[in-house]
Amino acid sequence: MLLALTSVATLICGCTATLAALASHASHAPQTVLSSSLPADPYPTQPLVHFNPSQRFKIIVVTDTHLLDGNGSSKPEDIARVNAMSQRAVRTYIRDEGPDYVVHLGDFVSGEFAHSELNVSRAVTQILEPIAEAGIPLSSTKGNHGNDKYSTHLSISQYEHAVAGPLSYTRQAPPGVGGGDVGTDNYWVPIHANASSPRGSRPELILWFFDSRGGKTTIANSPYGNGTQGDIEDWVHPTVGPWIEAETRKLTHAWGEPLPPSIVFTHIPAHAFAQAQTDKPYGPSHVGGITSENEGNFTVVNRTTYPGLNADVGFGGQGGEYTNYKRQDRVYLDAFLGKDGPTAKGSRLHAIVSGHEHGNDWCSPSQLRAQNGEQIVPVCFAKHSGFGGYDETWWAQGARVFTFDRDNIDKGVGTHVRFLSGEKRYATELTDKWTKLVSRS
Ligand SMILES: *[C@@H]1O[C@H](CO)[C@@H](O)[C@H](O)[C@H]1NC(C)=O
Ligand SMILES: *[C@@H]1O[C@H](CO)[C@@H](O)[C@H](O)[C@H]1NC(C)=O
Ligand SMILES: *[C@@H]1O[C@H](CO)[C@@H](O)[C@H](O)[C@H]1NC(C)=O
Ligand SMILES: *[C@@H]1O[C@H](CO)[C@@H](O)[C@H](O)[C@H]1NC(C)=O
Ligand SMILES: *[C@@H]1O[C@H](CO)[C@@H](O)[C@H](O)[C@H]1NC(C)=O
Ligand SMILES: *[C@@H]1O[C@H](CO)[C@@H](O)[C@H](O)[C@H]1NC(C)=O
Repeated sequence: MLLALTSVATLICGCTATLAALASHASHAPQTVLSSSLPADPYPTQPLVHFNPSQRFKIIVVTDTHLLDGNGSSKPEDIARVNAMSQRAVRTYIRDEGPDYVVHLGDFVSGEFAHSELNVSRAVTQILEPIAEAGIPLSSTKGNHGNDKYSTHLSISQYEHAVAGPLSYTRQAPPGVGGGDVGTDNYWVPIHANASSPRGSRPELILWFFDSRGGKTTIANSPYGNGTQGDIEDWVHPTVGPWIEAETRKLTHAWGEPLPPSIVFTHIPAHAFAQAQTDKPYGPSHVGGITSENEGNFTVVNRTTYPGLNADVGFGGQGGEYTNYKRQDRVYLDAFLGKDGPTAKGSRLHAIVSGHEHGNDWCSPSQLRAQNGEQIVPVCFAKHSGFGGYDETWWAQGARVFTFDRDNIDKGVGTHVRFLSGEKRYATELTDKWTKLVSRS
């Protein structure tokens, strides 16, 4: 692992000084962890998150809001205007969908434009306010722009807890897991049947969050001590793999087998997303999958009739954004999908969901397999939800939606994208039928 770190640090920034800095940074990071006497009840002081009375559970995914980015302008009035547009967008998605839960999938802010910690805390407050005011439970993982001059993933979580209070289910990975305060968002949230489900009992669904880190150190934590920030690796830290297996043992002990089905959220897409975009048998003509708009009509990506926007082409994903991909993201993925992970005894992994590539909003089958190779794993981009960050006007803004149906929770999940314009598009059910249909086409 030391060798790998050295060579990666060399590739990322052409220097080896980051190695020691990254290692010491990781081991000395302060951590606060919620704990409980019931190992399977990680939120002893908060209400259970649960399905709604119609036996459904709807999540909307907001991502890449990039507050503090003034669309190319550093004038305070431009920044304030673009920030306000993103906040209104979040309010609109909530109004149009009425979700049971909101996930912010990262890049709350463009940390490189912050002038102070106060800039970041105000921006995080602004973007989460519509969710908190609506009283909707939420949680997040952070992106590569959240680790920057005046912020880390940990500090953004602290601002999140301040604005959302007990509505926030974001918690920090235990000490030694995730890579320190730049990689804290590794945790799971149980979704129960109803408000009176017994605490610590087997839930219906588990939301897993993994922190793909990335970005830059704060100025204060610069490894150089000369104001130049250090680079942070852009993949889920290898300590997360053994942690997933330990959690699986703990939860299996508490609930028996199989564990409930799950869905995974990570800001930077795994490399499997890049493969889904380029490699046979899927490839560029197949991304987007089969939607109600184009079922049986699945041909080529077309800006007019596209079954999912596919404008960010040739990205590398975790470990491949700035370096040659060397399977860095397979430690946690192999743990999750392997014989000691949560899907091994036949539990469904509904999808892996990522943001980061603002020009993509498709779902596709991937080369990843769950349930001992039995299940093809769908990979889904969310959709660029805010007005900060790189963009083309025709890409539009939106939020990906997942609707779980308790009666069919082991079969699949419904998903669509709600555009800011109000349009609902790409509605489909991610089931085995869907993955097989798309893989063949
Ligand atoms: C950002 O700038 C582009 C180019 O000037 C413009 O088309 C777009 O409307 C602007 N967006 C916002 C949110 O200001
Ligand atoms: C960011 O902080 C600077 C200096 O602390 C302040 O002048 C500016 O108004 C802040 N901008 C925002 C958008 O909060
Ligand atoms: C609530 O869910 C639990 C399972 O978690 C179930 O045993 C119980 O019957 C449910 N209660 C109601 C009122 O549906
Ligand atoms: C700080 O040190 C690093 C590593 O030696 C160097 O690459 C960088 O240019 C320095 N920055 C400044 C502002 O001197
Ligand atoms: C295929 O596309 C055409 C033109 O967009 C549309 O009229 C037709 O309903 C589509 N077929 C199916 C099965 O969706
Ligand atoms: C995209 O689809 C529209 C509507 O079906 C069609 O008119 C247009 O020619 C297509 N563009 C390409 C590049 O295939």
